[in-house]
Amino acid sequence: CDSGGQRAALSFNMAFGQVRYSVPEEMTTGSVVGNIIQDLGLDVKRMKSGKPRIFTEDGSEYIGLNTEKGTLVVAKRIDREELCNQVSPCSLHFQIILENPMELHRIDVEVTDINDNAPFFSKKEYSFQVIESASPGARYSLESAKDPDVGHNTVQTYKLNPTDHFKLNVVSLPDGTKYIEMVLHTSLDREKQEEHKLTLTAFDGGNPEKSGFVRINVVVLDANDNAPTFSQSVYRLAVPENTSTGTVILTVSANDKDEGGNEKIVYSFSQHTDSALSLFNMDPQTGEITVVGKLDYEKVKHYEINIEAMDKGGLTDTSKVLIEVTDINDNAPVISIISLSNPIPEDSAPDTVIAMLNIKDADSDKNGQVKCFINKDMPFKIKSSSSNFYSLMSDDILDRETVPEYNITITAMDEGSPPYSTSKTVNLRISDINDHAPMFSRSFSTAFITENNSPGMTLLSVKASDKDYANNARISYFLEDSQLNGRSASAYFSVNAESGQILAVRSFDYEQIKEFNICVKAQDGGSPPLSSNMTVKVMIQDQNDNPPQVLYPVQTGGSLVAEMVPRSADVGYLVTKVVAVDVDSGQNAWLSYKLQKATDRALFEVGLQNGEIRTIRGVTDKDAVKQRLTVIVEDNGQPSRSATVIVNVAVADSFPEVLSEFTDYTQDKEYNDNLTFYLVLALAVVSFLFITCLVVIISVKIYRWRQSRVLYHSNLPVIPYYPPRYSDTLGTGTLPHVYNYEVCRTNDSRKSDCKFGTVGSQNVLIMDPSSTGTMQRIQSEKNILDEADSPLEVRTVIHEMCSP
Ligand SMILES: *[C@@H]1O[C@H](CO)[C@@H](O)[C@H](O)[C@H]1NC(C)=O
Ligand SMILES: *[C@@H]1O[C@H](CO)[C@@H](O)[C@H](O)[C@H]1NC(C)=O
Repeated sequence: CDSGGQRAALSFNMAFGQVRYSVPEEMTTGSVVGNIIQDLGLDVKRMKSGKPRIFTEDGSEYIGLNTEKGTLVVAKRIDREELCNQVSPCSLHFQIILENPMELHRIDVEVTDINDNAPFFSKKEYSFQVIESASPGARYSLESAKDPDVGHNTVQTYKLNPTDHFKLNVVSLPDGTKYIEMVLHTSLDREKQEEHKLTLTAFDGGNPEKSGFVRINVVVLDANDNAPTFSQSVYRLAVPENTSTGTVILTVSANDKDEGGNEKIVYSFSQHTDSALSLFNMDPQTGEITVVGKLDYEKVKHYEINIEAMDKGGLTDTSKVLIEVTDINDNAPVISIISLSNPIPEDSAPDTVIAMLNIKDADSDKNGQVKCFINKDMPFKIKSSSSNFYSLMSDDILDRETVPEYNITITAMDEGSPPYSTSKTVNLRISDINDHAPMFSRSFSTAFITENNSPGMTLLSVKASDKDYANNARISYFLEDSQLNGRSASAYFSVNAESGQILAVRSFDYEQIKEFNICVKAQDGGSPPLSSNMTVKVMIQDQNDNPPQVLYPVQTGGSLVAEMVPRSADVGYLVTKVVAVDVDSGQNAWLSYKLQKATDRALFEVGLQNGEIRTIRGVTDKDAVKQRLTVIVEDNGQPSRSATVIVNVAVADSFPEVLSEFTDYTQDKEYNDNLTFYLVLALAVVSFLFITCLVVIISVKIYRWRQSRVLYHSNLPVIPYYPPRYSDTLGTGTLPHVYNYEVCRTNDSRKSDCKFGTVGSQNVLIMDPSSTGTMQRIQSEKNILDEADSPLEVRTVIHEMCSP
């Protein structure tokens, strides 16, 4: 330290026996405080002899004495604040004592203050809690700063920073102390700034000045000055309708800028429809909206819920929740049948509408779009007529006889994913139309009936079937009316309408009619009815109901006729031939001849088959002239029938001889004369008629011949021939029931004989030589008398055909 400088700073105070020095505090040790040699007026010698020393009352040794230089120096660090605290001025008092002579000198050293202390606060930091609602002017006292220095070096000014909300107010109290406080001048907003950090700085007046600061932390306390605010003014969300109960669909949140409980918000529905209340729930604390009911898009598509958030102070905010329910494919299509024609007739044309359907699906868009179809392989189709309306139509020709009913399954399927489908089965019946005629199992049948039947006898049952149904299949049988043998068919037969039994109405006679062709009609009960025909050939079978009839010799009452046998006749002489016929046929008409009894020894025999009476030995004289033979003609029926014929034979050489033998006949002469007359008369009449007929026939023939000559140049005659009617009569003993007549015509020399035989139809064919060559059917009786070895056959053929 520059001592010269220091000294200049000293205040030199020369007083008697008293010297005052002034020295700033905190001088370095050794710094010169003052020169006592000069200031006390001592010389160097006195200094040496006086042995000066420093005497302090309290023994403090801040100041030392350099005896050689006679200077007072700082012996140890002097701190004014320590020494005097706040007392000012602050002085050190001591005595300098000299000996030889004893000399006392009082020295005062005033320690002056230097600004060696900065102002300071007792705390580093202060905290205030200020409610934000505090009004401007509110005051908050602060501690003042301290500075051990004195005077100017102590605290002079304060400064607060920043000052946007608070300013400093320094109040000087009457005792001189200063009181500082913070005054709020603009209101606080916790929501803007929760904390304000201020710095209070205290400055002293030293040069250079020193400062000390303290931090002031102002925490703004919340006041419920903010209403809650929802994060959105409108919440929109889409919720599928199948959302299950308990699902959280939305969490709303409202924000309250307040704190400390003021931000606690209670959520609730404010205004809502009752239906929404039952479907949704809101958690008052969390703001979660949950589904508590069953949503149904088909019922309600939107919900609008007003929600409210309220803080503890009762401040509220409202918002809206718009819930859009989205469609889920949760509805199956519904098929309703509006109209149905059931049954439908089988003759319905294709495209006939059977049913009208309405198909709805409550879902929307794809979920509600419906496809409709029916099961495959059905002659039906489904057609959309307009939206939601469909018609079920026939697509083909229907046939009840093939398929009488259909189970049409209508399926409607929506296009959702997964799709829903519904089926409905319509049992459609096809009603019958009379489209089938009754059908006989056979179109032709033959029935046999023995003649002499009892009337009412059943010949045959015919049966027809009809594929239709009910009345359309109810068959009635009728006899087609036709002419049989000149009479109505119903005169012979009747048909039971229900059972189809064919009954004979009367007794038949084979000898009159051998067969019938009748036509039975089966007719159903439809409208119009359908029918079909069946031809039944009724064949009458012969019974042996006719005895043989002897044609020759003619039996007269008198039996005058006799055969003459000359006595010279040889063995085997043919006397006569018994000719008999049996109108029965077959075995019943197979005749055999026997002699019942012969006079004397048997002179005659009868040919068993041919009825020829021949001699079997030579005539002797013993043989009577008059022979009476009884011939039994017997048929072969079961039982057999027979006839007897008496043949008178005269064995004589001359007529007179005979007459004499037959005198017993003359008694009838008159009668015979009459008879002869009538016979002659009849013969004349018959001859006349015959000639007349012959003339007529010839003229007709000639006329026809002339006409046919124009057409044919060569017209050969027809040669009929009749084969033997019995074939192998003796061989097998059986006879055919049916005989054929074969007719042959040769109209050209190159052609051989040809036969036109019709066994089946039993037609008798002849060729009319004058005709144009066509065959004609003979529908009349034709009698053919066989010449030698067959009986007379009467044959009747009646042809009755159902259809040509
Ligand atoms: C139709 O359905 C009914 C009832 O299920 C059944 O009795 C009948 O046999 C079915 N018909 C056809 C043709 O499948
Ligand atoms: C049945 O026969 C009658 C008479 O012969 C005929 O007119 C009719 O056409 C026939 N009907 C049928 C279906 O053949």
